Amino acid sequence: MAKNIYIEDIANWEGQEVTIKGWLYNKTDKGRLQFLLVRDGTGLVQGVVFQKEVPPEVFEAAQGVTQESSLIVTGTVRADERAPGTPGGYELSIRDIEIVQLAEEYPIAPKEHGVEFLMDRRHLWLRSSRQWAILRVRAEVIRAIRDWLDGNGFLNVDTPILTPSACEDTTTLFATDYFGEPAYLTQSGQLYNEADIMSFGRVYCFGPTFRAEKSKTRRHMMEFWMVEPEMAYADLDECMRVEEEFVSYIVQTTLKNRANELKVLERDTTLLEKVVPPFPRISYDEAVEILNKEGVPIEWGDDFGAPHEVAVGDRFEKPVFVHHYPTQCKAFYMEEEPGRPEVSKSVDLLAAEGYGEIIGGGQRTASYELLERRIEEHNLPRAAYEWYLDLRKYGSVPHSGFGLGVERTIMWICGIHHIRETIPFPRLLGRMYP
Ligand code: 4AD
Ligand code: MG
Repeated sequence: MAKNIYIEDIANWEGQEVTIKGWLYNKTDKGRLQFLLVRDGTGLVQGVVFQKEVPPEVFEAAQGVTQESSLIVTGTVRADERAPGTPGGYELSIRDIEIVQLAEEYPIAPKEHGVEFLMDRRHLWLRSSRQWAILRVRAEVIRAIRDWLDGNGFLNVDTPILTPSACEDTTTLFATDYFGEPAYLTQSGQLYNEADIMSFGRVYCFGPTFRAEKSKTRRHMMEFWMVEPEMAYADLDECMRVEEEFVSYIVQTTLKNRANELKVLERDTTLLEKVVPPFPRISYDEAVEILNKEGVPIEWGDDFGAPHEVAVGDRFEKPVFVHHYPTQCKAFYMEEEPGRPEVSKSVDLLAAEGYGEIIGGGQRTASYELLERRIEEHNLPRAAYEWYLDLRKYGSVPHSGFGLGVERTIMWICGIHHIRETIPFPRLLGRMYP
């Protein structure tokens, strides 16, 4: 009896007969030879069917099988350096084929299609090698995130998705009805994290977050995943130190464990290999000077747009920290710099190679009076923030934290142009199907 195996383990079965259950990815007809590229979820392997070596009905099945038909193939594993596949280097001399379901004409042919065409068929597009590779990188990035945090003293404490108030910007809230009361889909778990650290010290939340951003860019989605570590007794400096260790671990682990997938994506990993601590740090003031010198003008006090982030990020080989943004362009909870209230203890991490901001964070206001004033200045409904103010009444401490955008990080590691491919079913401006 042939052994049922997964393609990812094929190297262990050289010279032996195995059975693989999967789908037909592609086929090449060379007359008496049929080359079947079979995928099973874990990888892709070429099966060879030679007319002389199989019963006529098996050869007919090979000739007639259509793209994306589900099938079960049995044959002998042979080493062949030139064999295509993931992992490469092995092929299957097929002895038997069982067609589970003969697929109708598959709409996504192995050729170029327009993006809208593919997005309408996202449920099928997921099967293509490139999407397979990106989403396997995604799973590894998520595993590395949890691995590092769990191993470095951070407790996973979940935060709610339905919330009564805004964390970031009231204009980008998705509102819903909570039994007659307004409720919003969370933009960030940060405010709850700040309550949680007073019980647990170091925590993180990790989940989907929502922003009704009316911007159609290649880096924005309405629904994205964010991991948010938060730390009691940590200042801005400590925050940056944790960020660089964390990001380096994610990048290096993914390079190691997803080398095959990054090869499928033809990612040049030269710069990613250099992502190790320490990362360069510059102030917003310095960044503004650089930008104005380099012909990407910006006025002191304005927030960075994508072109600014990219111009600053691309000046460095590693991700760069930009700290001390003007108070006016950051959220209400940012701690202010003593003696310089016009700047905040905020920090963004900008990636190189045109990827821009992947992390936002900083030190939070510890003072009751300052926080009260900020809530007023930002015209936030005080009643909804009473509990948050409370945290400054009972054992307030200096504390910091940050949020890493998972999809932005995947985009950067995979080296892909648009964020829509980094999540199985993206929610974009003007698209919620499928
Ligand atoms: O900079 P942001 O808005 O920071 C916060 O939400 C903080 N409360 C996080 C914290 O300190 N705990 O968002 C953090 C990151 C960004 O750097 C970016 O990577 C990602 O989330 N992000 C988005 N990713 C995809 N689509 C969007 N619309 C995004 N908005 C933010
Ligand atoms: Mg930000």
